[in-house]
Amino acid sequence: MKRQYKLDILFDSLAAPILASGKLEPLRQYIQHGTCTCYDHVMAVAKTALSIAMHLPFRFKKDQLVRGALLHDYFLYDWHTVKLDKLHGFAHPKIALENARREFDLTPIEENIIVRHMFPLTPVPPRYRESILVMLADKHCANKEFFSELGRKLSKKKFFAPIAHAFSLLIALLPWT
Ligand SMILES: [Fe+2]
Ligand SMILES: [Fe+2]
Repeated sequence: MKRQYKLDILFDSLAAPILASGKLEPLRQYIQHGTCTCYDHVMAVAKTALSIAMHLPFRFKKDQLVRGALLHDYFLYDWHTVKLDKLHGFAHPKIALENARREFDLTPIEENIIVRHMFPLTPVPPRYRESILVMLADKHCANKEFFSELGRKLSKKKFFAPIAHAFSLLIALLPWT
């Protein structure tokens, strides 16, 4: 079986219960980075984390890895407009955890994935290998989403188009894309 196909099948089976619950649907209405919705972002993070886990010689609790990744940004507001006591970057892991706890029975690994995914911006590091993986996958996906939007905007301007193309090529060659 081809590796990508195997990944898709496994991802679908692990994500199915939480997706079928419909409780992730509100994430479709919020933008995360650029034109990427929170729903697309958490799906990308969960799939990326699972893909990395399948390449590493460690045991991962893949069901909890995927569930935690799907819920890691379950903050349920438009962070571009909402006013919070703290900056969104610092506040949203705890808000996501509170929301996720209300809707789902979470394991300690899933809770840790959600509340520690913004390390090192939030200073307490992730505790489990699953939470470390989601923290890294989140940064990787956020970079891709941010830079693809920047590249798209720049390429619309005639003067910037060649620079944007060179920039996207450079980004594509970097090890973290
Ligand atoms: Fe986040
Ligand atoms: Fe995220």
